[in-house]
Amino acid sequence: MRDLGGKVAVITGGASGVGRAIAAKLAGEGAQVVIADVDAESIDKTRTELEERGLAVDGMEVDVSRGESVNALAERVFERYGNVHLLFNNAGVGIKEAKRRIWTLPEKDWQWTYAVNVLGVANGVRAFVPTMLERGEEGHVINTSSANGGIASLPTTPVYASSKAAVTSLTEVLHFQFLLEGAKLRAHLLFPGPHLVNTNILNSDRVRPDAFRIEGQAPATYVDMKALAESAGIAFKLTQPEEVAEMAIEGIRNDRFWILSTEGNSDARLQTRTESILARANPEPTK
Ligand SMILES: NC(=O)c1ccc[n+]([C@@H]2O[C@H](COP(=O)([O-])OP(=O)(O)OC[C@H]3O[C@@H](n4cnc5c(N)ncnc54)[C@H](O)[C@@H]3O)[C@@H](O)[C@H]2O)c1
Repeated sequence: MRDLGGKVAVITGGASGVGRAIAAKLAGEGAQVVIADVDAESIDKTRTELEERGLAVDGMEVDVSRGESVNALAERVFERYGNVHLLFNNAGVGIKEAKRRIWTLPEKDWQWTYAVNVLGVANGVRAFVPTMLERGEEGHVINTSSANGGIASLPTTPVYASSKAAVTSLTEVLHFQFLLEGAKLRAHLLFPGPHLVNTNILNSDRVRPDAFRIEGQAPATYVDMKALAESAGIAFKLTQPEEVAEMAIEGIRNDRFWILSTEGNSDARLQTRTESILARANPEPTK
């Protein structure tokens, strides 16, 4: 799909970070954009900010972890716009797990992360794809994975990495099935990067529903990625969300399944992992 003008795009997690940058980019290309997010305040803020830049976007509340909430979103979108051409299953969360051992992490951290990062993507596919197929127009489903887990797992983030491995796997299957169906839909895997992207992901706790909160544990304190990067010195590079949005749109335009930067260390990690599997050699933890 080369001309995005007039196309209908739905972006989950569209009120912040990568999703917001994609929304701005698409609105600038003349697409009709719906930002769908669990955080109503951020939706309003984002819409106002984009409007000030002359970019009009629609906003709808959704909790991607709940199937009925995503079904209700799809119903509203199809009713208002008739079809969806670009579905970004992008909403995702990260917990405070850096360097924690896999056997010490509480069940609620697993439940919440998997509910948003994995079921959220499945719920998006289940709610939107049948009608997109029925309409018979060209369309794209872009699922946001992460090089961490989606390509090779870092040894430091067990829950997040394993949730993103699931996103990669289910999107590969979706891609195969679109081809087997002879559908006009294409699936894509977006890997934000090449470096840690300057977003609110380290502050996900702000949108953790009470049902997934751990009794007696206060919400995680605010982390500013830029300050974190600066305190870590030059070795800690940050990618801006706008760079990821550029890469995403370029990938869709050129029908790339793997929307993954060639910069950074993903290729080296993938190669090491693949070689270890092919050689039946035990892997070493990556740094
Ligand atoms: N930031 C990075 O370095 C990085 C790297 C690789 C992958 N990613 C992935 O990129 C995607 C976007 O994250 P980001 O970095 O822009 O973070 P972000 O926190 O800035 O944006 C995520 C958005 O998702 C929304 N969200 C959270 N739970 C939701 C739910 N249940 N229903 C609907 N919306 C919900 C949040 O309110 C927020 O607006 C995620 O899937 C993330 O895992 C990020």
